[in-house]
Amino acid sequence: MKILMVGSECSPFVKSGGLADVLGSLPQALSKQGAEVRVVLPKYQEMSDEWKEQLTLLGAYRVRLGWRNQYAGIETLTCNGITFYFIDNEYYFKRSNLYGFGDEAERFVFFNRSIFEMLKIMDWIPDVIHCHDWQTGLIPLYLHTHYQNDPLFHKIKTVFTIHNLKYQGIFPASILHELMDLDHQVMHEDGIEFYGNVNFMKAALNYADKVTTVSKTYAKEIQTSYYGENLDGVLRKRSEKLTGVINGIDISAYDPATDNAIPFPYESCFNEKIKNKSMLQKELGLPIDESIPMVGIVSRLVEQKGFDLIARVIDEWVEQDNVQLVVLGTGDYSYESLFRSLQIRYPTKVVAVIEFKETLARRIYAASDLFLMPSRFEPCGIGQLLALRYLSAPIVRETGGLVDTVTSFNEQTEEGNGFSFKNYNAHDMLYTIRRALAIYQNKNKWLKLVENMANSNLSWDYAAETYLEIYQSTVG
Ligand code: GLC
Repeated sequence: MKILMVGSECSPFVKSGGLADVLGSLPQALSKQGAEVRVVLPKYQEMSDEWKEQLTLLGAYRVRLGWRNQYAGIETLTCNGITFYFIDNEYYFKRSNLYGFGDEAERFVFFNRSIFEMLKIMDWIPDVIHCHDWQTGLIPLYLHTHYQNDPLFHKIKTVFTIHNLKYQGIFPASILHELMDLDHQVMHEDGIEFYGNVNFMKAALNYADKVTTVSKTYAKEIQTSYYGENLDGVLRKRSEKLTGVINGIDISAYDPATDNAIPFPYESCFNEKIKNKSMLQKELGLPIDESIPMVGIVSRLVEQKGFDLIARVIDEWVEQDNVQLVVLGTGDYSYESLFRSLQIRYPTKVVAVIEFKETLARRIYAASDLFLMPSRFEPCGIGQLLALRYLSAPIVRETGGLVDTVTSFNEQTEEGNGFSFKNYNAHDMLYTIRRALAIYQNKNKWLKLVENMANSNLSWDYAAETYLEIYQSTVG
């Protein structure tokens, strides 16, 4: 089975969020199970020179977008046994950031179309193109329009994965003609039309052979109006081809027993783990005391992640409880300044590092006892999986992938690998944090919880098997 994965970011080359982690580790898991997987991405300026130097040019061609006729180069490298292709066009991708420009539609129309033009000059045709998020949403549509009669693409099937339904790629209908070379034949309810605009995500939902999203719970949630981002109707209509497949993490790349970023590597031993806490307290200028419970947050600082709840009860919480809160991440200005000001108000209890540093992230997972992730919605979530891997008990809201990966600890049966609360309510969260802190004081119970965390299934094996079944079902 030959699979071409297409996405707009991928670790270790370029990353803005969880999508990059998935594209950086799923291909290897699939190839371990016998699939031949290649990955294609835009060649961004942000990629480090170390990678750029390894690229070789395979060929070049032109891509048509309305009246434009744009250059595209394909460059390639191999990393961990996987072949990666990078589509080069400096006008579109040699910029200071991955996203957020005024010509986003043009950049990604170009990227989507260049995939087909690239295949024309290669002697490798995939059985399935697996597309991820709105930036690749036009590929299934193009297969049914521009490239429909090309025998080269005749047998190709498409699978589209929703990593976050909130970001859909919505643009004015004028781009249909102006950039996409399509006419109004696709501008209807079962096509690309969305309240008079065009919607790339919707195009994928309608034209892909299979649609997946990154947890079973999110697959159900997005068919309701609360989580559906105005596409719940389309998703209900397409529910037969929609499946939820939970993400894994690369358990050898994130392994507390071998992680160079942490001062005291450990297996599943709590006494070894706790030594990492005092080191981090020292590094961050917090009072050094192993008995103080440390709560970690490693996250993009955006509304989705539930920081409103924290803002609401933080004073009540940290004024009364003997805890340390360590926050790492960047994002919306309002949340960045929220955490900065908390650090100023509570210098012995709150530390906020407003940047993203991979090695510090790992030290926080290793040092913290608890990991707070009260998301308003969460398609899958990776933070809680990493926290489980490093034996930091996740406190989560019961939504999306958080439901599917964290079960709340039950003191009677001693089952459960974390803590959770149901309603998006700040005091429900605080109550749950305090329940966790109380259990932390009961060492026997805590050790049982640690054991349960260590037994959580976090690898990619299940997801890879399931994706292979999905690919197989499309090719028949
Ligand atoms: C997005 C989602 C996150 C998910 C990730 C990878 O970033 O917000 O929940 O884990 O994609 O699928």
